[in-house]
Amino acid sequence: MNIIPVITLDGPGGVGKGTLGRLLAHDLGWHLLDSGAIYRALALAARRAGLHADDEAALSDLARALPLSFRGAVDQTHVLLGAEVVDAAIRSPEISALTSQIAALPTVRAALLQRQRDFRQAPGLVADGRDMGTVVFPDATLKVFLTASAEVRGKRRLNQLMEQGSSANLATVVAEIAERDARDQQRSVAPLRPASDARLLDTSEQSVSDTYRVLQSWVQAVLQEN
Ligand code: DC
Repeated sequence: MNIIPVITLDGPGGVGKGTLGRLLAHDLGWHLLDSGAIYRALALAARRAGLHADDEAALSDLARALPLSFRGAVDQTHVLLGAEVVDAAIRSPEISALTSQIAALPTVRAALLQRQRDFRQAPGLVADGRDMGTVVFPDATLKVFLTASAEVRGKRRLNQLMEQGSSANLATVVAEIAERDARDQQRSVAPLRPASDARLLDTSEQSVSDTYRVLQSWVQAVLQEN
């Protein structure tokens, strides 16, 4: 068994996993895996290569060869494809939609599995995604599954998009989120669902700092036990 501790944060889009993961990794001095960024970067590379969302063989080859890297401190990470910073490009609505289609392909997920597990390095890892607790790190030290209503998540996503300078409206963003949730939950491989041993945390009615306090108390208790 791998003794390097891992805390997994899973849940649907806009639930606050990214923000909480960054805070936690920063405060613990641990590494951070933003697994969604890996799937997103693959979707961007696929779009640029002119691949179709159902060309599973070509997409898996691309996944294995993807020249992806992360740079910077955990709370200010940049995603690079080759030498190009793609932080904004991988978060466009178009790439978000393509990402969830590509992420449903079993051989693509398999091709990205070891790349994600390689992030497990001392002194520890905070891993954010959909299947961190169920598939990628089933032996994680603490598994948290975050939830929030689609309306709340839509508002958060809209704010992020507006900060990045893109124009969008709430109804469209909520509809896109609902569509992606359905695809992520219904896919046959690694569907979005809590691990049987995950703790549930609903962030709808709580501020980031309230949610973070709850998370910190769980983390401290679990790390003391281990
Ligand atoms: O967390 P995010 O919004 O950046 O994720 C983008 C997409 O990638 C989303 O549709 C779900 C998918 N994804 C996944 O299937 N498995 C993961 N571990 C992370 C993300």
